[in-house]
Amino acid sequence: MCGIVGYIGDKQAQNILVDGLKRLEYRGYDSSGVAVLDNNQIEIAKKKGKIKDLEGVLVNNEINGTIGIGHTRWATHGEPSDRNAHPHFSMDEKIAIVHNGIIENYNELREELKSEGYKFNSDTDTEVIVHLVEKYYDGDLLKAVNRATKDLVGSYSIGAISSDEPDRLIAARYSSPLVIGIGEGENFIASDIPAVLEHTKNYYILEDHELAEITKNDIKIYNQDLEPVEREITHVTWDAKDAQKDGYPFFMLKEINEQPRALQDAIRGRIKENGDIKLDDVVITKEDLDKIDHIQIVACGTAYNAGLIGKKYIEKYARIPIEIETASEYRYKNPIVTENTLLIVLSQSGETADTLAAIDIAKKNGARVLAITNVIGSSIARQSNDVIYTNAGPEIAVASTKAYVTQVACMMLVALHLGRLKGLVSDEKLKKLTTELKQASDHIQKALDDSEELEEYVTANKDHEDLYLIGRGHDYNTAIEGSLKIKEISYVHSESFSAGELKHGPIALIEDGTIVLAVATQEDVLEKVMSNIEEVRTRGGKVFLVTQEKFKDRIADLDKMDKVFFLPDMDDDIAPLASVVYLQLFAYFLAVANGRNVDQPRNLAKAVTVE
Ligand code: F6R
Repeated sequence: MCGIVGYIGDKQAQNILVDGLKRLEYRGYDSSGVAVLDNNQIEIAKKKGKIKDLEGVLVNNEINGTIGIGHTRWATHGEPSDRNAHPHFSMDEKIAIVHNGIIENYNELREELKSEGYKFNSDTDTEVIVHLVEKYYDGDLLKAVNRATKDLVGSYSIGAISSDEPDRLIAARYSSPLVIGIGEGENFIASDIPAVLEHTKNYYILEDHELAEITKNDIKIYNQDLEPVEREITHVTWDAKDAQKDGYPFFMLKEINEQPRALQDAIRGRIKENGDIKLDDVVITKEDLDKIDHIQIVACGTAYNAGLIGKKYIEKYARIPIEIETASEYRYKNPIVTENTLLIVLSQSGETADTLAAIDIAKKNGARVLAITNVIGSSIARQSNDVIYTNAGPEIAVASTKAYVTQVACMMLVALHLGRLKGLVSDEKLKKLTTELKQASDHIQKALDDSEELEEYVTANKDHEDLYLIGRGHDYNTAIEGSLKIKEISYVHSESFSAGELKHGPIALIEDGTIVLAVATQEDVLEKVMSNIEEVRTRGGKVFLVTQEKFKDRIADLDKMDKVFFLPDMDDDIAPLASVVYLQLFAYFLAVANGRNVDQPRNLAKAVTVE
């Protein structure tokens, strides 16, 4: 899981590469490097640590040149170190490459190459690629890279340059993302669009087993037989500033604050005047739906948690039985999936390896796949039959926030769409829910407006070692997501429980002063949750409560809660979109109060493109 970037044009490459790497740092941040070609010689600078450590090296050793490649690493083979950082050189130092992915047969290739006299300078799987390219090189880098990829088992996106061919940059891809940014008199490669968004909004998306030959004025795409391939340009409307911090101390806080806008973008154009749902890239007809006897929802992490809420929406509004599974479990459980299955996958990045594997299994068994993803042209989008883009804009912080809220909103649209196709959602209900969905941004805003008060509370309680979250119905799912956010960015131990399960074991954990975050936004189980809260309080627990204004009079002993936040009144099915924001902010302020690197939590990377 790494990020790669490449440049060819008339400008100095070094700074463009370093800037691109900064935007890709969420993909990996244990080491980084650049290779720049000048005067028929390649120079490499690389350094363990963050991009700023690489900048420290470059400050006194600027590398001139107008063609180059860069890499930010998240170690898989070989510890994070200067020598394991990319780019890697061929033995004669005439070829440099960067790689994202994993070469599964690298041991075998390494032994073979060693027996042929190749010397290795790193412990990485990647170094076999550069030696293979060197082995097959006879004056044509495109051909050599293509030949080398035929020996590789695993996943790769590759950027390569050769000092013998100073006017071209070669790229190749299989199972790891790579885009080609189209400029004027300059071109780019990158692991994702935000890396070079500042320079262009036009891209070619490289497909599996394809290569690209890039000069400053031309881009040619080839298949693995080196036959030219036609590719349409993908145009993005994202603003370059979407991929910058814009005055916020962390991307995560910026992205939390962007949620009212992101939600509007997720539903914009999808709710017709009469309240009907219009999902352009979903072409499921009534006849198709009649053939579907069950739905499976598969995703990972936060996207899975959004799926949990989506399951409830679809079961409620379309009355279709649903199974939900994390992708890593699904792919190995021999799932019962047939041509009568609709698989719904959710993924912010659209590149998650386990989710892609689940799609593959489902498609091989004839199932239809509907993807909800944020990244246009991502592998998941391309491999699915129907796609709904969440339109959240680039999400840079490792911890997912606006992607989650937009995924939940899209799941609501899917549920209503399927419910309408089945004739189960009345005009009146549809109108009410879609109107409320549009208003949800205001409710999220209320949570954002409470930030200061929330920060004060969290900072005062920053030293708690364990936090527990409870809820019922949608609120239980929100608690699961809140608990994940707390763990991943603050490193404070936290667990979520269905409030009704407390008495079956977890309540033993509650002692004097234990903080329990309770979410109670659901009318039908309100009194039940209040009883559970009472059970917590009588054992000395301190309760942090998120509820709706309309329940104020039904909550006894409000003054005995440690802290209460009220959301404006809304339909209970809309509440998960807003209540989660309090938990996102709770996690954020806790991480800040504990001095954590919020955007790049330890051991985590943004796109999990390996298993
Ligand atoms: C948590 C988080 C991860 C991702 C998960 C799936 O904040 O970001 O749990 O949700 O790795 O990633 P995508 O959505 O890209 O498939």
